Amino acid sequence: MAGFFITIEGIDGSGKSTQARLLRDKLVEIGHDVILTREPGGSKGAEEIRSLLLQGNTDRWSAETEILLFTAARRDHVERLIEPALIADQTVICDRFVDSTRIYQGYAHHNLRKLVDKLHNLMIFRNPDLTILIDIDPTIGLKRSFARSNHETRFENLGTAKQSIMRNNFLKLANDFPDRFVVFDGERDFGIIAKDIFSYVTKFNATQTTAKTHNG
Ligand code: ADP
Ligand code: TYD
Repeated sequence: MAGFFITIEGIDGSGKSTQARLLRDKLVEIGHDVILTREPGGSKGAEEIRSLLLQGNTDRWSAETEILLFTAARRDHVERLIEPALIADQTVICDRFVDSTRIYQGYAHHNLRKLVDKLHNLMIFRNPDLTILIDIDPTIGLKRSFARSNHETRFENLGTAKQSIMRNNFLKLANDFPDRFVVFDGERDFGIIAKDIFSYVTKFNATQTTAKTHNG
């Protein structure tokens, strides 16, 4: 059986990293062998590209260059960490993946969504089995992420209006891929959200395992 690939998506400060850690802990408790990783980054080379992407002025890169950098980082991450883990039957939880590129680079400046999809199909291929979207009002999200403030603020500096567009685009994307997307309300207590996510993930994984067993 191949491993289980879960991605967590949402705007900045929606609670992705918090929920990724809580989900990892709960899955480990029930016997999953879990790798928790993130994008941009997750492998040595991709972490180096991360600092090029997240530091500096908002207009540091053109949208096209940004897509290439995110895709290069993702290729390294998939080659070196994600694929080997899935082949070894591990559960991989990734904090952001290609859907973030579809939203942040695909829609942000011009309509480059087709370019993101083309590059994904050409260089990455791997899609998540399940994508957890944590939905939140951007005013709450930005308040949370600036409270934990560090120097990786290139995208957070986009402001509430743009984050609001991202939020709506994430919700539209969830409708484009209904088989793998599930949306959770991120404005609740983090323990309650974690419980909901865990319950959904275990049911989803059981269905997937049964399907794989029946299909050989
Ligand atoms: P993201 O990875 O989506 O940017 P984080 O998980 O890092 O979000 O959360 C951003 C900040 O908000 C952190 O300081 C975290 O402790 C806090 N936080 C996360 N989830 C909740 C929640 N449900 N309620 C209140 N604060 C939260
Ligand atoms: P992240 O560290 O997940 O930020 P946060 O915890 O605040 O959500 O990601 C950093 C930034 O990178 C985030 O603002 C979104 C941006 N990003 C893209 O623009 N495209 C991408 O493909 C990815 C993976 C991230």
